[in-house]
Amino acid sequence: MATLVFVSICTLINVFKALPADERRQPHTEIVKEYYTQRSHAPGTLLISEGIVIAPKAGGLPHFPGIWSQEMITAWERPGLLIANTYSPYQVTDSIHAKGSFIFCQLFGQGRSADPKVLAAEDSSFPYVSASAIPLSTRPSDVPRPLSVDEIHEYTQLFVQASLNAIEAGFDGVEIHGANGYLLDQFTQDVSNHRTDEYGGSIENRARFPLEVVDAVVKVCILESSLTRNNGLDMTMTDPVPTFTYFANEIKRRHPHFAYLHAVEPRVAGTAFRDEDEIKPQEENDFLRKIWAPKPFISAGHTRASGIEAADEKGDLVAFGRQFISNVSCCLHVCFLLSIRMIGEPSIFHVNIPMHRL
Ligand SMILES: Cc1cc2nc3c(=O)[nH]c(=O)nc-3n(C[C@H](O)[C@H](O)[C@H](O)COP(=O)(O)O)c2cc1C
Repeated sequence: MATLVFVSICTLINVFKALPADERRQPHTEIVKEYYTQRSHAPGTLLISEGIVIAPKAGGLPHFPGIWSQEMITAWERPGLLIANTYSPYQVTDSIHAKGSFIFCQLFGQGRSADPKVLAAEDSSFPYVSASAIPLSTRPSDVPRPLSVDEIHEYTQLFVQASLNAIEAGFDGVEIHGANGYLLDQFTQDVSNHRTDEYGGSIENRARFPLEVVDAVVKVCILESSLTRNNGLDMTMTDPVPTFTYFANEIKRRHPHFAYLHAVEPRVAGTAFRDEDEIKPQEENDFLRKIWAPKPFISAGHTRASGIEAADEKGDLVAFGRQFISNVSCCLHVCFLLSIRMIGEPSIFHVNIPMHRL
């Protein structure tokens, strides 16, 4: 029965953008722990963390958590560690494991989605970068500097170190965020990558940096995954299918034990559902399912009905993001046909307001 399969794979994708980290980019410990633990109640739930920044200079928006220092690792990890003669109360990953559930760490760099003012305020030496000098349409005067080839190689190593840190912090695997207009996506898609070197131009060249990150992370992590999605921040290529076909095929060819591929259904844009008749055929994810089969394919952006259908008819692992934010026992709500409360922005975005109201 599809519903039973569906229960075991209910997944939290992300949480709350503004709250997870303090000024030092450490998770807001007790609240974050409580939030994740609440959502791991159904044993076997796989949680995917919010995007966690790989290195200080790869950030550039307030309150995104990071995972580059021992303090941060400890904050995600286990209780009872003696730090500066006090016992750390932090225990996010252990608390999830105690419920019989799992959590992957989603890793990313912001590239041009950063705010250069925030970067400069953190450290005046942090450059505002991307694949090419192409600004976001919403901030045309903020023009990013293209990463040099040496910097690209350095970023790959930052992903590797962040992955090692995530495993040390008790995460069960890492998810490389290759979508939504963040740094790796800025290289993959032709709308943001006009480079003329080996990291731009052809599909193979545009996919080179994300694939190098995948290759390097796979060497150090037993479990890892990737996510390939087409939306967000000026990123909609005219025809994403050839590029993402190559990308998915390469990951499958190079890494037969890759944990999963994760994509968002085109019915969602940002936090809203789109009209079905707005969706163009090239936005559909079926080509990815076909390439990836029979390996695990996670899809997000579902209603209850479409989630059950995707699990039943396409064999997807179905992820819930917004509904899991606003329904602590989302799995139960989906499976036992309980009403599902949708998120309202006032209930998730307020900085410094305790999360208990969720
Ligand atoms: C408040 C909020 C924050 C999000 N943050 C992230 C993120 O950090 N990383 C990510 O991959 N997706 C993020 N997303 C997108 C969701 O993970 C999910 O893909 C999207 O909401 C569609 O799935 P859903 O219909 O189940 O919510 C966020 C969504 C919301 C509403």
